[in-house]
Amino acid sequence: MTHKKDAIFHLKPHVLFVMTLAAVFSVELLVMFLLPFLPRFSPVIEAFLDACLLSLLVVPFLFYFFLKPLSRNIELRKQKEIERNNLQEIDTIKNEFISTAAHELRTPVATIMGYTELLSDHGPIGPISDVQRGEFLDEIYASSERLNKIVDDVLDVSRIESGQKIALNKQSLSIKQLLEKVVKRLSLKASHHLVLEVSPGIPERFDFDDDRIDQVLGNLIGNAIKYSPEQSTITVVAVADADRCKITVADQGIGMSAEQQARVFEKFYRADTSDTSVGGLGLGMSIVKQIVEDHDGTIVVESVLGEGTRVCFSLPVQQD
Ligand SMILES: Nc1ncnc2c1ncn2[C@@H]1O[C@H](COP(=O)(O)OP(=O)(O)O)[C@@H](O)[C@H]1O
Ligand SMILES: [Mg+2]
Repeated sequence: MTHKKDAIFHLKPHVLFVMTLAAVFSVELLVMFLLPFLPRFSPVIEAFLDACLLSLLVVPFLFYFFLKPLSRNIELRKQKEIERNNLQEIDTIKNEFISTAAHELRTPVATIMGYTELLSDHGPIGPISDVQRGEFLDEIYASSERLNKIVDDVLDVSRIESGQKIALNKQSLSIKQLLEKVVKRLSLKASHHLVLEVSPGIPERFDFDDDRIDQVLGNLIGNAIKYSPEQSTITVVAVADADRCKITVADQGIGMSAEQQARVFEKFYRADTSDTSVGGLGLGMSIVKQIVEDHDGTIVVESVLGEGTRVCFSLPVQQD
């Protein structure tokens, strides 16, 4: 986009020359008109002023052959500087992502290795009981699930990055049943009070991809769990009007500042990395947004630092 003030840089030299010529002659005419009213200068000074005025005619050429390349050079240098800064930023984000990903992968891998060793009869605690075996296998399963989720998230983001839509398998299903299933599943793992309120106006069925909306709910409720204190209440509310079903996940957690909220849907973005015990790759919200938008839905975040967060997404209930 060309700024108004840069428009002069895009004029051809002959146009500039004609414009300057017109300006010089206008000034000359004005001077001639005013001459009878002006005090008489010495002829030398008048000749000098005339020469100065006429010398203005070289300005367009100076401008075109000297100032314009100079300004173009400055522009190019600025552009390169911006590109270098962008590359540096991408590099920093990439390095941060690699170290976060390595950390995120190490924890479940270490858990799987540890429990597999314990399962062996020759392991550090010797023969184990059936109850212990069950517990260890549960831990191994949970860690494998975690690894699977990391791989799925990375694949989703790389697909979104390459401009592909998320493949949806929409079917006419009950959102109420899905909400109950997800809330029940997550309640078992969390030390929070999960409350589900489904308004009676919710349509029996409408078209959506239940695996993907399960993933959206899992991510949003998962975040609410991760970023709010144990024993606090997390509310999931579903309401509907004629066109849309609106689902809100509200927590009483750490919340986010306005700047953090503005970046929450960026991939790899993590607002608060001070607490390293809270894991995550910063991919969940960007995937959630893509899934909701691929359903022709919308998503908004409202949050107050230190008070809590509400994430509300809506899905169309009538497909065309
Ligand atoms: N409910 C929430 N409360 C506070 N902060 C949140 C909440 N949801 C998301 N965030 C912030 O947004 C960031 C991005 O979220 P997300 O993409 O799900 O990544 P992750 O959970 O892997 O860190 C999180 O790291 C966190 O800082
Ligand atoms: Mg998350």
